[in-house]
Amino acid sequence: MPTFNLLFVCLGNICRSPCAESVMLHLIDRAGLSEQVHIDSAGTGDWHIGKHSDDRMRKHAKRRGYSLDSLARQVSPLDFQRFDMILVMDQQNLRDIASFAPDEAAMKKVQLFCDFAKDRSERQVPDPYYDGEEGFEQVLDIVENGSQYLLEHIKAKLSKSPA
Ligand code: 4NP
Repeated sequence: MPTFNLLFVCLGNICRSPCAESVMLHLIDRAGLSEQVHIDSAGTGDWHIGKHSDDRMRKHAKRRGYSLDSLARQVSPLDFQRFDMILVMDQQNLRDIASFAPDEAAMKKVQLFCDFAKDRSERQVPDPYYDGEEGFEQVLDIVENGSQYLLEHIKAKLSKSPA
């Protein structure tokens, strides 16, 4: 059975990328693809390793039915082997993750999440950490939109993969 491994990356791995992980897990589960699609998240920074997601992010996500259960970890060079696609939240993440890539070719797996958020005007998922409540709602709005298109992208990839 073909599989697809997807990694979401932000700075701290306590707000945006665990949010995307949870929303995407929800959609993948609903699509009956949990056996085939493996999803994880990580941060380029190391300050929050081992910690639960930010309480504010968890609260806002919970209101929309998503549970953020992962513990923060830092990106590793091995992630470029383990994952088929790595989606970053902003341009800073894109610059920072390059220092973890084993070579330049590995960076071909890295893409901005907002490339999939086709109905949104934002081209980055803004860092909500120092913002108010609206920042967390905006993260969820962008993530929910991008995840719909991402699901279609993954389904297409799986259908084209050799069995
Ligand atoms: P995230 O948000 O990258 O979406 O997890 C942040 C979390 C923590 C910090 C910055 C952004 N921080 O500076 O500690």
